[in-house]
Amino acid sequence: MPPAVILPIDPQHPDRRLLVRAGAVIRSGGLVAFPTETVYGLGANAFDDHAIASLYKAKRRDARDPLIVHLASASGLPRVATDIPEALGHLTTRFWPGPLTIVARRHPDVPGRVSANRPTVAVRVPAHPVARGLIEASGVPVVAPSANRFMRSSATRASHVVADLGEVIDLILDGGPTEIGLESTVVATDDDGSVRVLRPGAIPVEAIVVALRDAGIDVPVHVGAVQRVASNDGELSPGLLETHYAPRATLVLVSGAPASSVRLMVQLLHDAIAAGERPGLIVYDEDADSLIDPRMPHRVTISHVGSVASPETIAHNLFASFRDLDAAGVTRIVARTIDAVTTMPGRPPIPGGFGLARAIDDRLIRAAGSRVHLTGSMK
Ligand code: TXA
Ligand code: MG
Repeated sequence: MPPAVILPIDPQHPDRRLLVRAGAVIRSGGLVAFPTETVYGLGANAFDDHAIASLYKAKRRDARDPLIVHLASASGLPRVATDIPEALGHLTTRFWPGPLTIVARRHPDVPGRVSANRPTVAVRVPAHPVARGLIEASGVPVVAPSANRFMRSSATRASHVVADLGEVIDLILDGGPTEIGLESTVVATDDDGSVRVLRPGAIPVEAIVVALRDAGIDVPVHVGAVQRVASNDGELSPGLLETHYAPRATLVLVSGAPASSVRLMVQLLHDAIAAGERPGLIVYDEDADSLIDPRMPHRVTISHVGSVASPETIAHNLFASFRDLDAAGVTRIVARTIDAVTTMPGRPPIPGGFGLARAIDDRLIRAAGSRVHLTGSMK
């Protein structure tokens, strides 16, 4: 198939003719990458089973990993989901349009393939003018996983989409870098009615707790997938794919008090050099002075991602940093979490912290897989 057509588009005031053209591609079963406020999505018609199959194929996505249905507005929700629990319904009025995804009962008209044959479906209404305009123009709900190859980090620039998928999709709407840079927060309810954050993301867990409390909805909020590696039917719990969002290089992650973390990072860097690796560093502003020694070998590639005091900046830059380090030929990346992580024997580490920092640490942990070094408590 010919390489994807790339159409630059104004992110705030998208040209309607471009949206209509892209919408027609979606309606006719094609694949269109487009910016959202979180990351780029790879869109297909949610009611077209064939298009969805080709989307899984293009991404090389595991067929057991369900997709998010994107709507132009909340009024489309009854077409794709039923029996919305009160707590989730309230969260949609509070956070849509925006980076919140709810999981509810799948409408029978939505093909099972959308949600890997689960009885549920994930839904969100994005806030980005291009995303909403495209969904409106296509006239159908649009499934859109992040526009990257499966297991790689999400695309936050059109160039990332080109690199991963340029040969296997039809069209890319290039609206520039995405603002938030991390994916939406995914929430579901448990059988007992409590709210469960399956994927920490752009809407902080604390904001969800406050929104429910302010509405007088008195339900507990849990964070993290229910711990089961694979249920009897072989279904994957989201978030249990340990190596995800990963750069090509090996990411070695340090977690604990900042000062001791920085010391360990320096040591890991020297280990990497001794092992003949091409090392890269992800650096927070606060660490730059102690981490970047003037005697440091010039072969270390450094990626500045911003200040810990501004998690928004780090979120915006993180995935691009992974990809930039990969492009520079780095083979081993050293980084640290913003907050301390919790660990239990035999379980993957769990991010602590607040707000966006929790989502950043979640992505770092998954990108690192089992290579997380702890330096003790944050105190
Ligand atoms: O910000 C975002 O959410 C981006 C943009 C493009 O909207 N999309 C995105 O999609 O991140 P994707 O496919 O990369 O991630 C979807 C997440 C996965 O963790 C998946 O397991 C979970 O949502 N998910 C989807 N359907 C689900 C369901 N029925 N039950 C539980 N989790 C579900
Ligand atoms: Mg993804």
